[in-house]
Amino acid sequence: MAMQLEAVVPFGRSLDEYCQMFALTPEALTGNILGVADGPASFNAELTAQGGQVTSVDPLYAFTPDDIQQRFDAVIDNIIEQVRQTPDDWVWSYHRSPDDLRANRLRVLAAFLADYSRGDSRYVVGELPTLAFASGQFDLALCSHFLFLYTDHFTYEFHLAAMLEMLRVAREVRVFPLLTLGLARSPYLPTIQTVLTAQGYTVRMMQVPYELQRGGNEMLVVTRNSPED
Ligand SMILES: C[S@@+](CC[C@H](N)C(=O)[O-])C[C@H]1O[C@@H](n2cnc3c(N)ncnc32)[C@H](O)[C@@H]1O
Repeated sequence: MAMQLEAVVPFGRSLDEYCQMFALTPEALTGNILGVADGPASFNAELTAQGGQVTSVDPLYAFTPDDIQQRFDAVIDNIIEQVRQTPDDWVWSYHRSPDDLRANRLRVLAAFLADYSRGDSRYVVGELPTLAFASGQFDLALCSHFLFLYTDHFTYEFHLAAMLEMLRVAREVRVFPLLTLGLARSPYLPTIQTVLTAQGYTVRMMQVPYELQRGGNEMLVVTRNSPED
C-alpha cells in the first residue's frame, strides 16, 4: 500500500546517534550495512562520506526532497511543543534540551536532503515486511525508531515477519529502541525472543549509551547460530 506522507514523522538521527543507539564499533562500520526504515536519518550520508558501505530502505523515498522538507516543516514545532509538555518522559543528556533536539533534527534533515537530492541508488524505496534484497546480502541490518516503537500501529505478526525478513538479508540485526511510544517495553518482545531462539538465532538485549525516551536505552541484537553451536 502506498504510504501517506501525512502519517510520517520525518525525524531523523545522525551517524553519531546511530553509533550510540547500536553500540557500533569502528569494525562494524566497515561492513555492508542496511538501514531499514532509515527515513530522513543522515546515517547513510555521513557514513558514505567516511567511506562506509550503506544502503537505506524506506517507503519515504517515494517522495521528493521538497515533499519531505515540507512535511518536516509542518510538524516540527508541534512535536517539540509536545516534548516540552512531557518533561518527565525525556532524558536530556545527549540532547541538552528541547531546543537542542530541534536544532539536531534540523541539522540531520539538511545533511540527509543534501545527499538524498543526488538521487543515489543507496536510497531504496521499500517497506517491511518484504525487502527486495538477496539473502545474506548484508553484514548488518539496523532498524531505528520503527519496530517495537510503533507497537500500537503494527501487529505482532508484522513484527515477527519483519524480523525474519531482516535476518534473511543480513547476518545480524539490531533494533532500537525496545520501548513503545508510551514508554513501556513492547509486549511483543518475549514471544519474538522465544520464536527466534527456537528457529536457531541468538537473541540478546543490550544496554547502550543513548537514551532520549526515558528508559529507552536498550537494543535487540539477533544473530544466526553457527552450525557447530
Ligand atoms: C521515526 S522514523 C525513523 C527514521 C530513522 N530510522 C531514524 O531513527 O532516524 C520511522 C521511519 O519508518 C518508516 N516506515 C514506515 N513504515 C515502514 C515499513 N513498513 N517498512 C520500513 N519503514 C517504514 C517511515 O517512513 C519513517 O521514515
